[in-house]
Amino acid sequence: MSIKNRVFSGIQPSGDLHLGNYLGAIRRFVPLQETHECIYCVVDMHAITVWQDPDELRRATREVASAFIAAGIDPKAHIVFNQSQVIQHAELAWVFNCIARIGWMNRMTQFKDKAGKNSENVSLGLLAYPSLMAADILLYKASHVPVGDDQKQHLELTRDIAAKFNNDYAASIAAEGLAEEFFPLTEPLIAGPATRIMSLRDGKKKMSKSDPSDASRISLLDDADAIAKKIKRATTDPEPLPSDEKGLEGRPEADNLVGIYAALSDKSKADVLAEFGGAGWGVFKPALADLAVSVLAPMAGEMQRLIDDPETIDAVLREGADRARVLAEETMTQVRRIVGFIR
Ligand code: TYM
Repeated sequence: MSIKNRVFSGIQPSGDLHLGNYLGAIRRFVPLQETHECIYCVVDMHAITVWQDPDELRRATREVASAFIAAGIDPKAHIVFNQSQVIQHAELAWVFNCIARIGWMNRMTQFKDKAGKNSENVSLGLLAYPSLMAADILLYKASHVPVGDDQKQHLELTRDIAAKFNNDYAASIAAEGLAEEFFPLTEPLIAGPATRIMSLRDGKKKMSKSDPSDASRISLLDDADAIAKKIKRATTDPEPLPSDEKGLEGRPEADNLVGIYAALSDKSKADVLAEFGGAGWGVFKPALADLAVSVLAPMAGEMQRLIDDPETIDAVLREGADRARVLAEETMTQVRRIVGFIR
Protein backbone atom coordinates (compact mmCIF):
# COMPACT_ATOMS: atom_id res chain seq x y z
CA MET A 1 0.00 0.00 0.00
CA SER A 2 1.32 3.40 -0.84
CA ILE A 3 2.02 5.96 1.81
CA LYS A 4 -0.63 8.48 0.81
CA ASN A 5 0.92 11.63 -0.66
CA ARG A 6 4.54 10.54 -0.61
CA VAL A 7 6.63 11.71 -3.56
CA PHE A 8 9.95 10.20 -4.62
CA SER A 9 12.12 11.29 -7.51
CA GLY A 10 15.76 10.96 -8.52
CA ILE A 11 18.30 12.67 -10.73
CA GLN A 12 21.55 11.16 -11.97
CA PRO A 13 24.80 12.96 -11.21
CA SER A 14 26.29 12.31 -14.63
CA GLY A 15 27.42 15.42 -16.49
CA ASP A 16 25.96 18.89 -16.11
CA LEU A 17 22.35 19.50 -15.22
CA HIS A 18 20.41 21.27 -17.95
CA LEU A 19 17.16 23.12 -18.57
CA GLY A 20 15.34 19.85 -19.39
CA ASN A 21 16.20 18.43 -15.96
CA TYR A 22 15.07 21.67 -14.37
CA LEU A 23 11.76 22.15 -16.19
CA GLY A 24 10.87 18.48 -16.57
CA ALA A 25 11.74 17.58 -12.99
CA ILE A 26 13.40 19.85 -10.40
CA ARG A 27 11.11 22.87 -10.86
CA ARG A 28 8.10 20.59 -10.54
CA PHE A 29 9.49 19.08 -7.32
CA VAL A 30 9.18 22.42 -5.53
CA PRO A 31 5.38 22.98 -5.25
CA LEU A 32 4.83 19.31 -4.33
CA GLN A 33 6.40 20.17 -0.98
CA GLU A 34 3.18 21.97 -0.05
CA THR A 35 0.99 18.90 -0.47
CA HIS A 36 3.26 15.87 -0.17
CA GLU A 37 6.02 14.39 1.92
CA CYS A 38 8.91 14.57 -0.57
CA ILE A 39 12.04 12.47 -0.96
CA TYR A 40 14.50 13.72 -3.56
CA CYS A 41 17.52 11.61 -4.33
CA VAL A 42 20.81 12.04 -6.17
CA VAL A 43 21.08 8.60 -7.78
CA ASP A 44 24.83 8.08 -7.80
CA MET A 45 24.53 4.28 -8.07
CA HIS A 46 22.58 4.73 -11.29
CA ALA A 47 25.28 7.06 -12.61
CA ILE A 48 27.99 4.40 -12.44
CA THR A 49 26.09 2.10 -14.82
CA VAL A 50 28.29 3.96 -17.30
CA TRP A 51 31.87 4.88 -16.40
CA GLN A 52 32.23 7.94 -14.13
CA ASP A 53 35.47 9.45 -13.01
CA PRO A 54 35.31 9.32 -9.16
CA ASP A 55 36.20 12.99 -8.60
CA GLU A 56 33.71 14.01 -11.26
CA LEU A 57 31.02 11.83 -9.63
CA ARG A 58 31.56 13.58 -6.30
CA ARG A 59 31.40 16.99 -8.01
CA ALA A 60 28.25 16.13 -9.94
CA THR A 61 26.57 14.66 -6.84
CA ARG A 62 27.09 17.96 -5.02
CA GLU A 63 25.90 19.85 -8.11
CA VAL A 64 22.57 18.00 -8.18
CA ALA A 65 22.08 18.44 -4.43
CA SER A 66 22.85 22.15 -4.76
CA ALA A 67 20.33 22.45 -7.62
CA PHE A 68 17.61 20.90 -5.44
CA ILE A 69 18.28 23.44 -2.70
CA ALA A 70 18.82 26.45 -4.98
CA ALA A 71 15.53 25.66 -6.75
CA GLY A 72 13.67 25.88 -3.45
CA ILE A 73 13.59 22.39 -1.97
CA ASP A 74 13.77 22.52 1.81
CA PRO A 75 16.02 19.69 3.02
CA LYS A 76 14.86 20.15 6.60
CA ALA A 77 11.13 19.82 5.92
CA HIS A 78 11.68 17.07 3.30
CA ILE A 79 14.47 14.59 2.47
CA VAL A 80 17.42 15.21 0.15
CA PHE A 81 20.13 12.55 0.00
CA ASN A 82 22.37 10.50 -2.27
CA GLN A 83 21.35 6.94 -3.02
CA SER A 84 24.61 5.14 -2.16
CA GLN A 85 24.36 6.23 1.50
CA VAL A 86 21.20 4.16 1.94
CA ILE A 87 22.37 0.67 1.11
CA GLN A 88 18.81 -0.71 1.28
CA HIS A 89 18.41 0.60 -2.31
CA ALA A 90 20.96 -1.96 -3.48
CA GLU A 91 19.46 -4.67 -1.30
CA LEU A 92 15.93 -4.24 -2.64
CA ALA A 93 17.25 -3.88 -6.19
CA TRP A 94 18.76 -7.35 -5.85
CA VAL A 95 15.43 -8.83 -4.82
CA PHE A 96 13.83 -7.06 -7.79
CA ASN A 97 16.53 -8.43 -10.10
CA CYS A 98 15.14 -11.81 -9.16
CA ILE A 99 11.52 -10.70 -9.76
CA ALA A 100 11.93 -8.84 -13.07
CA ARG A 101 12.50 -10.81 -16.28
CA ILE A 102 15.41 -10.22 -18.65
CA GLY A 103 12.91 -9.72 -21.49
CA TRP A 104 11.37 -6.77 -19.62
CA MET A 105 14.77 -5.11 -19.36
CA ASN A 106 15.65 -5.80 -22.98
CA ARG A 107 12.51 -3.97 -24.07
CA MET A 108 13.44 -0.69 -22.39
CA THR A 109 13.94 1.95 -25.08
CA GLN A 110 16.41 3.87 -22.93
CA PHE A 111 18.56 0.74 -22.63
CA LYS A 112 18.34 0.12 -26.37
CA ASP A 113 19.33 3.75 -27.06
CA LYS A 114 22.24 3.71 -24.63
CA ALA A 115 23.51 0.26 -25.55
CA GLY A 116 23.09 0.79 -29.30
CA LYS A 117 24.67 -2.01 -31.32
CA ASN A 118 26.96 -2.68 -28.40
CA SER A 119 24.50 -4.47 -26.12
CA GLU A 120 26.88 -7.36 -25.30
CA ASN A 121 29.54 -4.99 -24.08
CA VAL A 122 27.66 -2.56 -21.81
CA SER A 123 27.64 -3.06 -18.05
CA LEU A 124 25.24 -5.54 -16.50
CA GLY A 125 24.18 -2.60 -14.30
CA LEU A 126 22.91 -0.70 -17.34
CA LEU A 127 20.58 -3.58 -18.19
CA ALA A 128 19.38 -3.89 -14.57
CA TYR A 129 19.07 -0.11 -14.18
CA PRO A 130 15.21 -0.05 -14.05
CA SER A 131 15.23 -2.62 -11.28
CA LEU A 132 17.28 -0.25 -9.08
CA MET A 133 14.92 2.56 -10.06
CA ALA A 134 11.93 0.47 -8.95
CA ALA A 135 13.74 -0.16 -5.66
CA ASP A 136 14.26 3.60 -5.17
CA ILE A 137 10.55 4.24 -5.48
CA LEU A 138 9.12 1.18 -3.75
CA LEU A 139 11.48 1.26 -0.77
CA TYR A 140 9.50 4.33 0.28
CA LYS A 141 6.16 3.01 -1.04
CA ALA A 142 5.86 6.33 -2.85
CA SER A 143 2.43 7.29 -4.17
CA HIS A 144 3.70 9.65 -6.89
CA VAL A 145 6.84 10.14 -8.98
CA PRO A 146 7.34 13.43 -10.86
CA VAL A 147 9.54 12.88 -13.93
CA GLY A 148 9.99 13.92 -17.54
CA ASP A 149 8.37 11.99 -20.35
CA ASP A 150 11.50 9.89 -21.03
CA GLN A 151 11.01 8.01 -17.74
CA LYS A 152 7.48 6.83 -18.49
CA GLN A 153 8.46 3.32 -19.53
CA HIS A 154 10.62 2.87 -16.42
CA LEU A 155 7.65 3.79 -14.24
CA GLU A 156 5.44 1.27 -16.03
CA LEU A 157 8.09 -1.34 -15.32
CA THR A 158 8.14 -0.29 -11.66
CA ARG A 159 4.42 -1.07 -11.50
CA ASP A 160 5.02 -4.43 -13.19
CA ILE A 161 7.69 -5.31 -10.63
CA ALA A 162 5.45 -4.25 -7.74
CA ALA A 163 2.55 -6.32 -9.08
CA LYS A 164 4.72 -9.42 -9.68
CA PHE A 165 6.28 -9.20 -6.21
CA ASN A 166 2.83 -8.84 -4.61
CA ASN A 167 1.60 -11.81 -6.62
CA ASP A 168 4.62 -14.14 -6.30
CA TYR A 169 4.77 -13.60 -2.53
CA ALA A 170 1.02 -13.26 -1.90
CA ALA A 171 0.89 -16.19 0.55
CA SER A 172 3.89 -14.97 2.50
CA ILE A 173 2.58 -11.39 2.58
CA ALA A 174 -0.71 -12.70 3.99
CA ALA A 175 1.10 -14.92 6.51
CA GLU A 176 2.96 -11.84 7.77
CA GLY A 177 -0.40 -10.13 8.25
CA LEU A 178 0.48 -7.40 5.74
CA ALA A 179 -1.78 -5.71 3.20
CA GLU A 180 -2.31 -7.67 -0.02
CA GLU A 181 -0.99 -4.75 -2.09
CA PHE A 182 2.33 -4.74 -0.24
CA PHE A 183 4.05 -2.60 -2.86
CA PRO A 184 1.86 0.14 -4.33
CA LEU A 185 1.24 0.70 -8.02
CA THR A 186 2.92 4.10 -7.98
CA GLU A 187 1.54 6.86 -10.22
CA PRO A 188 3.83 8.85 -12.48
CA LEU A 189 3.36 12.63 -12.55
CA ILE A 190 4.17 13.64 -16.11
CA ALA A 191 2.34 16.86 -16.89
CA GLY A 192 2.72 20.47 -17.93
CA PRO A 193 4.29 22.18 -20.92
CA ALA A 194 7.86 20.91 -20.33
CA THR A 195 7.79 17.15 -19.99
CA ARG A 196 10.11 16.84 -22.98
CA ILE A 197 12.41 19.81 -23.62
CA MET A 198 14.17 19.53 -26.96
CA SER A 199 17.66 20.51 -28.11
CA LEU A 200 18.08 24.19 -29.01
CA ARG A 201 19.84 23.09 -32.20
CA ASP A 202 17.36 20.46 -33.35
CA GLY A 203 13.71 20.43 -32.33
CA LYS A 204 13.46 16.70 -33.01
CA LYS A 205 16.16 15.70 -30.52
CA LYS A 206 15.73 15.67 -26.75
CA MET A 207 17.86 18.13 -24.78
CA SER A 208 20.41 15.87 -23.12
CA LYS A 209 23.62 15.79 -21.12
CA SER A 210 25.23 13.61 -23.73
CA ASP A 211 24.71 15.87 -26.78
CA PRO A 212 28.22 16.84 -27.97
CA SER A 213 27.04 20.39 -28.78
CA ASP A 214 27.08 22.71 -25.76
CA ALA A 215 24.83 25.10 -27.71
CA SER A 216 22.11 22.41 -27.73
CA ARG A 217 21.38 22.89 -24.03
CA ILE A 218 21.27 25.52 -21.33
CA SER A 219 23.26 24.27 -18.36
CA LEU A 220 22.01 25.21 -14.93
CA LEU A 221 25.42 26.72 -14.13
CA ASP A 222 25.48 28.90 -17.28
CA ASP A 223 25.79 32.63 -16.59
CA ALA A 224 23.36 35.28 -17.87
CA ASP A 225 25.44 35.95 -20.96
CA ALA A 226 25.63 32.30 -22.01
CA ILE A 227 21.89 31.76 -21.41
CA ALA A 228 20.93 34.78 -23.55
CA LYS A 229 23.35 33.84 -26.35
CA LYS A 230 22.13 30.24 -26.57
CA ILE A 231 18.49 31.34 -26.79
CA LYS A 232 19.21 33.99 -29.40
CA ARG A 233 21.09 31.42 -31.50
CA ALA A 234 18.47 28.68 -31.08
CA THR A 235 17.33 27.13 -34.36
CA THR A 236 13.86 28.29 -35.48
CA ASP A 237 11.75 28.35 -38.62
CA PRO A 238 11.09 31.68 -40.40
CA GLU A 239 7.37 31.97 -39.53
CA PRO A 240 5.98 34.24 -36.81
CA LEU A 241 4.40 32.62 -33.74
CA PRO A 242 0.88 31.23 -34.23
CA SER A 243 -1.93 32.44 -32.01
CA ASP A 244 -3.05 28.99 -30.87
CA GLU A 245 -1.50 25.61 -30.06
CA LYS A 246 -2.76 23.97 -33.22
CA GLY A 247 -0.46 26.31 -35.13
CA LEU A 248 2.55 24.72 -33.40
CA GLU A 249 1.94 21.37 -35.10
CA GLY A 250 4.81 20.45 -37.41
CA ARG A 251 6.92 23.27 -35.91
CA PRO A 252 9.04 21.46 -33.30
CA GLU A 253 11.46 24.34 -32.64
CA ALA A 254 8.66 26.87 -32.13
CA ASP A 255 6.76 24.40 -29.97
CA ASN A 256 9.85 23.85 -27.83
CA LEU A 257 10.62 27.54 -27.24
CA VAL A 258 6.98 28.31 -26.44
CA GLY A 259 6.97 25.35 -24.02
CA ILE A 260 10.11 26.67 -22.33
CA TYR A 261 8.57 30.12 -21.97
CA ALA A 262 5.36 28.61 -20.58
CA ALA A 263 7.17 26.45 -18.04
CA LEU A 264 9.47 29.25 -16.88
CA SER A 265 6.51 31.57 -16.33
CA ASP A 266 4.10 28.93 -14.91
CA LYS A 267 1.68 29.55 -17.78
CA SER A 268 0.15 27.27 -20.38
CA LYS A 269 1.35 27.32 -24.00
CA ALA A 270 -2.09 28.72 -24.93
CA ASP A 271 -1.53 31.70 -22.59
CA VAL A 272 1.90 32.36 -24.09
CA LEU A 273 0.49 32.24 -27.62
CA ALA A 274 -2.37 34.53 -26.65
CA GLU A 275 0.31 37.04 -25.67
CA PHE A 276 2.83 36.49 -28.48
CA GLY A 277 0.71 35.18 -31.39
CA GLY A 278 1.78 36.98 -34.58
CA ALA A 279 5.09 38.13 -33.09
CA GLY A 280 8.34 37.32 -34.92
CA TRP A 281 11.43 35.74 -33.38
CA GLY A 282 13.03 39.18 -33.06
CA VAL A 283 10.42 39.90 -30.40
CA PHE A 284 9.94 36.47 -28.83
CA LYS A 285 13.57 35.40 -28.41
CA PRO A 286 14.67 38.48 -26.43
CA ALA A 287 11.57 38.13 -24.21
CA LEU A 288 12.41 34.45 -23.64
CA ALA A 289 16.07 35.26 -22.98
CA ASP A 290 15.10 37.90 -20.37
CA LEU A 291 12.70 35.50 -18.69
CA ALA A 292 15.23 32.63 -18.67
CA VAL A 293 17.98 34.85 -17.27
CA SER A 294 15.68 36.20 -14.56
CA VAL A 295 14.81 32.67 -13.39
CA LEU A 296 18.04 30.78 -14.04
CA ALA A 297 20.86 33.23 -13.32
CA PRO A 298 20.03 33.76 -9.62
CA MET A 299 19.65 30.01 -9.23
CA ALA A 300 23.05 29.42 -10.88
CA GLY A 301 24.58 31.91 -8.44
CA GLU A 302 23.08 30.12 -5.46
CA MET A 303 24.13 26.71 -6.82
CA GLN A 304 27.70 27.91 -7.23
CA ARG A 305 27.74 29.31 -3.69
CA LEU A 306 26.61 25.91 -2.36
CA ILE A 307 29.03 23.94 -4.55
CA ASP A 308 31.86 26.07 -3.19
CA ASP A 309 30.94 24.91 0.32
CA PRO A 310 31.10 21.10 0.01
CA GLU A 311 31.12 20.50 3.79
CA THR A 312 27.66 22.04 4.08
CA ILE A 313 26.27 20.09 1.12
CA ASP A 314 27.80 16.84 2.39
CA ALA A 315 26.23 17.43 5.81
CA VAL A 316 22.80 17.97 4.19
CA LEU A 317 23.19 14.71 2.25
CA ARG A 318 24.32 12.78 5.33
CA GLU A 319 21.45 14.07 7.41
CA GLY A 320 18.95 13.30 4.63
CA ALA A 321 20.39 9.79 4.28
CA ASP A 322 20.01 9.19 8.02
CA ARG A 323 16.31 10.01 7.77
CA ALA A 324 15.77 8.09 4.53
CA ARG A 325 17.46 5.01 6.01
CA VAL A 326 14.90 4.77 8.80
CA LEU A 327 12.04 4.63 6.26
CA ALA A 328 13.96 2.28 3.96
CA GLU A 329 14.79 -0.13 6.78
CA GLU A 330 11.11 -0.39 7.73
CA THR A 331 10.31 -1.69 4.26
CA MET A 332 13.37 -3.93 4.06
CA THR A 333 12.60 -5.54 7.43
CA GLN A 334 9.24 -6.61 5.98
CA VAL A 335 10.72 -7.63 2.62
CA ARG A 336 13.34 -9.87 4.24
CA ARG A 337 10.62 -11.67 6.20
CA ILE A 338 8.35 -11.96 3.15
CA VAL A 339 11.14 -13.43 1.02
CA GLY A 340 12.30 -15.84 3.73
CA PHE A 341 15.67 -14.44 4.73
CA ILE A 342 16.63 -15.30 8.32
CA ARG A 343 17.94 -12.47 10.50
P1 TYM B 1 17.90 11.70 -15.48
O1 TYM B 1 18.98 11.94 -14.48
O2 TYM B 1 18.25 11.34 -16.87
O3 TYM B 1 16.97 12.97 -15.56
C1 TYM B 1 16.46 13.59 -14.40
C2 TYM B 1 15.05 14.09 -14.64
O4 TYM B 1 15.05 15.03 -15.71
C3 TYM B 1 14.10 14.67 -16.69
N1 TYM B 1 14.60 15.06 -18.01
C4 TYM B 1 13.90 15.84 -18.86
N2 TYM B 1 12.68 16.40 -18.76
C5 TYM B 1 12.25 17.14 -19.82
N3 TYM B 1 13.00 17.35 -20.94
C6 TYM B 1 14.22 16.79 -21.08
N4 TYM B 1 14.95 17.00 -22.17
C7 TYM B 1 14.73 15.99 -20.00
N5 TYM B 1 15.89 15.31 -19.80
C8 TYM B 1 15.78 14.75 -18.58
C9 TYM B 1 13.98 13.15 -16.57
O5 TYM B 1 12.77 12.68 -17.09
C10 TYM B 1 14.07 12.98 -15.06
O6 TYM B 1 12.83 13.19 -14.45
N6 TYM B 1 16.21 7.14 -14.33
C11 TYM B 1 16.17 8.53 -13.93
C12 TYM B 1 16.67 8.78 -12.53
C13 TYM B 1 16.00 7.97 -11.46
C14 TYM B 1 14.68 8.15 -10.97
C15 TYM B 1 14.53 7.18 -9.94
C16 TYM B 1 13.65 9.02 -11.30
C17 TYM B 1 16.56 6.95 -10.78
N7 TYM B 1 15.69 6.48 -9.85
C18 TYM B 1 13.34 7.06 -9.23
C19 TYM B 1 12.45 8.89 -10.57
C20 TYM B 1 12.30 7.93 -9.55
C21 TYM B 1 17.05 9.32 -14.88
O7 TYM B 1 17.95 8.82 -15.50
O8 TYM B 1 16.83 10.65 -14.88
